[in-house]
Amino acid sequence: MTDKELRVSKIRNGTVIDHVTAGQALNVLAVLGIDGSGGESVSIGMNVPSGKVGQKDVVKVEGRELSQSEVEVISLIAPQATINIIRDFDVVEKDRVERADSVTGILVCPNHNCITNADEPVQTAFEVLDDGVRCSYCDTIVREDDVAEHIDTRGAGETAL
Ligand code: CTP
Ligand code: ZN
Repeated sequence: MTDKELRVSKIRNGTVIDHVTAGQALNVLAVLGIDGSGGESVSIGMNVPSGKVGQKDVVKVEGRELSQSEVEVISLIAPQATINIIRDFDVVEKDRVERADSVTGILVCPNHNCITNADEPVQTAFEVLDDGVRCSYCDTIVREDDVAEHIDTRGAGETAL
């Protein structure tokens, strides 16, 4: 990579979520519960060139690794993403996300009567279908294109505990 191509600075320690589907960077931030108020150092590139043709988004978060729940939801909204763990400026681990069979936490069930929306300590759980996800408690289906609209923006999920 040449300096001309580098749009976003390298990070010292943390996670680079690369090859994110163009247009999904802000949804990835929502999955991570990042809205800027937590003081995290975050860099994003949107619609940056990727390969010979095409564009991608990139999200770089300092001082943070991802939980399994976060990776599960990212696999739905950015199936081509790679998760790079950075330590002392080096990429020490690189993983392609794999489409999860199920996702727990992070997503909210759209059914207001679902037990996951009652005042009960029940974490959301969805089974992943070919074209969406189905609530494991009430069977409500969220279509693939609507998944991003059902991210819990209160930042609930494992990392918030
Ligand atoms: N990166 C970073 N800070 C570092 C090291 C790497 O922000 N200290 C970023 C790079 O800019 C790149 C991603 O992490 O977006 C992966 O880095 P690297 O594996 O070096 O790049 P590529 O070989 O281009 O990755 P790939 O083969 O996955 O496309
Ligand atoms: Zn439900």
